[in-house]
Amino acid sequence: MPGASAGSYQDPYDHPSGQRAPQLPAPTVPAHVAVVMDGNGRWANRRGLPRTAGHEAGEAALLDVVAGALEIGVSHLSAYAFSTENWKRSPEEVRFLMGFSRRVLRRQRDTLNAWGVRVVWIGRPQRLWGSVIRELQEAERLTASNTRMTLYMCVNYGGRAEIVDAVREIAEEARAGHLSGRGITEASLARRLNDPDMPDVDLFIRTSGEQRTSNFLLWQSAYAELVFVEELWPDVDRLVLWRAITDYARRDRRYGGAIDAPVTAG
Ligand code: IPE
Ligand code: IPE
Ligand code: MG
Repeated sequence: MPGASAGSYQDPYDHPSGQRAPQLPAPTVPAHVAVVMDGNGRWANRRGLPRTAGHEAGEAALLDVVAGALEIGVSHLSAYAFSTENWKRSPEEVRFLMGFSRRVLRRQRDTLNAWGVRVVWIGRPQRLWGSVIRELQEAERLTASNTRMTLYMCVNYGGRAEIVDAVREIAEEARAGHLSGRGITEASLARRLNDPDMPDVDLFIRTSGEQRTSNFLLWQSAYAELVFVEELWPDVDRLVLWRAITDYARRDRRYGGAIDAPVTAG
């Protein structure tokens, strides 16, 4: 049944610890959280396992983070699953990741649908396995009318590729005489990104202690708050997400503006 109707969504399962989401004032909860799910290979190798075992262990982490995002009231969650640079990996790992993405989507789409999650695929179709694209589209179709949260599955995604594709479209329109140089603005470029309705990223989380963005949501993260956590992705759960959100809630976002408030003595 496509998209359970609003209000009839199932609540996600509780965290095994029984812990609930921290009570934060609604305006301090980020609307859009982007997550670079990093550290799978290291997690596996430290256990004497092949890298692919780490990817497998990451599936439960993603589901728990989705559950935690729903519980705390995040409206948009972006998960970086495969980058345009990940084709550099061994053919065996790439093949595994393609098959695995397909299996995760098939295994989890009904649960995501029951929770009221709308799945949206962000990324380039070029090179991506047709069977993965079909599975992404099936998840999109099934969950299209859900309104509780949007989950962007970023598969064969690259921030630069996304911007280049938008610029290409603009160039074509200009060449056809439909657009002038003056007509090119931040808004007109943003409208040509993968999902023109994607809100800017508020909180950008990367796991595994690495402190870089690796080409994730470059345009949308221009003013994102960055939080780097030490946990390897398979060790991540909603408690890690809630900790990052609590950290975010204390940040002072100025967007280039300033408030003049000298500290007065005494
Ligand atoms: C993230 O984990 C998953 C993908 C990039 C697909 P990695 O596979 O990058 O794991 P590490 O960073 O090598 O440990
Ligand atoms: C970023 O992680 C991509 C995903 C998590 C899908 P990588 O492991 O590919 O990034 P680098 O190579 O460390 O920058
Ligand atoms: Mg990595």
